Amino acid sequence: MRVPGASLVLSVLLIAAAPTPEARAQAALPRSAGTPYAARSLPDRIVLTPGADPTREMAVAFRTDLAQRTSEAEIAVSVDGPTLPERAVKVIGAAAPREKASANGPALYHQVRFAGLRPDTVYAYRLKGSAGWSEWLQFRTAAAEAKPFRFLYLGDVQNGILTYASRVIRQAFHANGGIELVLHAGDLAAQRDDLDHDDEWGEWNQAAGYNYAIVPQVPATGNHEYVDIRLPDGTESRTLGPYWPLQFALPANGAEAAKATTYHVDYQGVRFIVLDGTSAMDLGTMEAQTRWLDATLAASKAKWNVVLFHQPVFTCARPNDIAEIKAAWKPVFDRRKVDLVLQGHDHCYSRLTAEAGREASAAARGKGAIQGPVYLVSVTGSKMYALNDRAGIQPDKVAEATELYQVVDVAGDRLQFRTYTASGKLYDGFVLARGADGRNRLIELQEPMIAVRTCTGATGPDGGPCVARGK
Ligand SMILES: [Fe+2]
Repeated sequence: MRVPGASLVLSVLLIAAAPTPEARAQAALPRSAGTPYAARSLPDRIVLTPGADPTREMAVAFRTDLAQRTSEAEIAVSVDGPTLPERAVKVIGAAAPREKASANGPALYHQVRFAGLRPDTVYAYRLKGSAGWSEWLQFRTAAAEAKPFRFLYLGDVQNGILTYASRVIRQAFHANGGIELVLHAGDLAAQRDDLDHDDEWGEWNQAAGYNYAIVPQVPATGNHEYVDIRLPDGTESRTLGPYWPLQFALPANGAEAAKATTYHVDYQGVRFIVLDGTSAMDLGTMEAQTRWLDATLAASKAKWNVVLFHQPVFTCARPNDIAEIKAAWKPVFDRRKVDLVLQGHDHCYSRLTAEAGREASAAARGKGAIQGPVYLVSVTGSKMYALNDRAGIQPDKVAEATELYQVVDVAGDRLQFRTYTASGKLYDGFVLARGADGRNRLIELQEPMIAVRTCTGATGPDGGPCVARGK
């Protein structure tokens, strides 16, 4: 489904003019139990995102019913008494709210940007609905200098969003205080024929609740953030689904050709770079994104560089690696000394430190070898793919039929990566130690971990049938 970039513009215009095949198909889709997701007189679906400079700017997206016509917030430097209204200032969204109809009825989506903030400062904000204000929600701006912090990395949420993925996300927040950013490696919702798409985004917000309103979110698009469309010539293409730009007020500092879905954020000594593999491969923006990636890494003054996108360089489920992504981006990661590459898409777990395989990697490590980019694939939701034929020898560690979350602690010359299962058991972990030569050495985490989780024949790691299916 490869189309030139120009077709995308045309297709977007056509979508605006007529009900899309997607909209028509929506009418027949299954619903969340109890259909609880109508917009209300108080804000919901509140998602905080970092500004390009999160020391001074944050943004928030939220939804209300149609009665709240202005996008209105109040914000104050937080104080410890119940006196926030006295010191709060009003902030109005720069653009009018956008109306979106769905099976849950009409709703208005609002965005407000908080600028001119002070670094390393706790702020409280609240949002206006037609019945009154939301509760006060607190966030902290990033410090202006490199300062230790913790972030969470989640693979595909996508399926069983409320039923299964919610417990993983809640366990991550419950067991790990101080999470300051949440990275999503794409496919946040399925947006196919499984469930009404508005219900999916309702579930996505309910799964993490207020955590997404108080911790800045750093999402990457997956292929499921795109919906299928038919072009006038009858060929199929895809376009970014309607919820992405409504739910995320992103920094808009990415590759010009993929401005809605690529961006970077500098946070306390780490540069996070977000790419869009679907746009790169299917909408003709690979070259533009690769140029932007290279320039953004070249200009980085951060100690650590982390790249986030969906379709993995090294797959753990598919018969073949994704050749276009690998050919375009891996050389840049190597040349620019990227530290972590965080991905999703394969609905399995893989930590890969050398293409030559786990034994070669361990042997090199034993001799003090420099560690290049570490490639991760993970999954949060309930869809599971079986491991491919290389999974037994290429990645250092894999998991199958297992829901996971990852907690990363960055502190000076050490970056510590830990992978936990849905119920909070430590599954994998390593430290990247920055040496005096400016290069990384990988140290395996020396802590008790549960046994490797894979299916054995038709039997899954929990003893019942294996729920991972071949890709
Ligand atoms: Fe996925």
